Amino acid sequence: MSKPRIVLAYSGGLDTSVAIEWLKEHKDVDVVACAVDVGQGVDDLEEIRQRGLECGAVESVVIDATTEFADGFIAPALKANAMYMNKYPLVSALSRPLIVKHLVQVARDTGAAGVAHGCTGKGNDQVRFEVGTMCLAPDLATLAPIREWGLTRDAAIDWATERGIPIPVTSKTSPYSIDENAWGRTAECGIIEDPWAAPPADVYERTVDVVDAPDTPEEVVIGFRRGLPVSLDGEELPLAELVARLDGQAGRHGVGRIDMIEDRLVGIKSREIYECPAAITLINAHRDLEDLCLEQELADHKRNEESRYAQLIYNGLWWGPLKRAIDAFMEEAAGYVNGEVRVQLFKGSATVVGRRSESSGLYSYDMATYDEGDRFDQTLAEGFVKLWGLPLKTWAARTRDADVEA
Ligand code: ARG
Repeated sequence: MSKPRIVLAYSGGLDTSVAIEWLKEHKDVDVVACAVDVGQGVDDLEEIRQRGLECGAVESVVIDATTEFADGFIAPALKANAMYMNKYPLVSALSRPLIVKHLVQVARDTGAAGVAHGCTGKGNDQVRFEVGTMCLAPDLATLAPIREWGLTRDAAIDWATERGIPIPVTSKTSPYSIDENAWGRTAECGIIEDPWAAPPADVYERTVDVVDAPDTPEEVVIGFRRGLPVSLDGEELPLAELVARLDGQAGRHGVGRIDMIEDRLVGIKSREIYECPAAITLINAHRDLEDLCLEQELADHKRNEESRYAQLIYNGLWWGPLKRAIDAFMEEAAGYVNGEVRVQLFKGSATVVGRRSESSGLYSYDMATYDEGDRFDQTLAEGFVKLWGLPLKTWAARTRDADVEA
């Protein structure tokens, strides 16, 4: 009788490579390796596919999801200016739900009984994989070989070497745990676990040190339609391409480095280093254009929804109903966000230096100006201020009386 199948989220790295053999030995299953390209900058997907087979998978698939990641995951996050703790643009938290979707699809295609991931028990990703699977395919089992096994990195390498598993050669030397996709790059572990230690230069890959960044600023004009960037300097581009191009451009100016203490869902505070040149540039630009185009009550309410939205994505609830409901709100708001933003990239900053919107801008020169041409009726202000202050005035009078009595 054939063994049950498990679809493993496969990166080609050390942990998931050894997980294949471990699942076979300890769970008596056949493993289907599934690598999903979310723009992590891997040149040779075929090589990863092959490695999956060499490490013992019965089947190995690679899925190019770069366009889907941009349009279905980066796009809604950007419309919502999604940043966890106001700092982290959700790089890994965005890719996990997409990977889950494909794992589930491959599980269906291959008649698998469950899915597996290579996360430890200390992070958020395990939650995202498992809760995502619960939501999309509650009948599928979820296995967490690395969490269950609890091996250290070095022990895993020795274990693999004993069995002749062809693990990636760089594993023993890389001091950090890296996750990467089109929206950014994350680094954990090693020296950065000391929150007092400044990040060493070798943590970074997508950004240059500001010291080495060009001494002259560079300007880029980002065109937005319905809350999404559609052009760079007038050239229309698909989102995935626009993000990739801007990422390189902003990274060369050292834009997008984030060094933060983060509250994980599992209760741990961790020190994280992120590089998100495109994400930071685009969120800055998008927020600024919203300031120009969104009516103020809507803008204010949107800010509240944004932090809730970021939090739910961080916490692995992407496929749930609150996410869908907030998306509907974000979509409505995005309809007003059309125009162009001038951003100056310089020495680690992406600074908005100009914005305009012919169709949707709510800025009115006639209202704002202090010069000739002012159409704002200042006589209305007098009554307004009186009524605005009336509740406070009433309260203050009462309080004064009470003070006198006391
Ligand atoms: N702390 C970040 C998050 O939870 C990054 C996680 C990176 N994942 C990883 N397996 N290295 O989203």
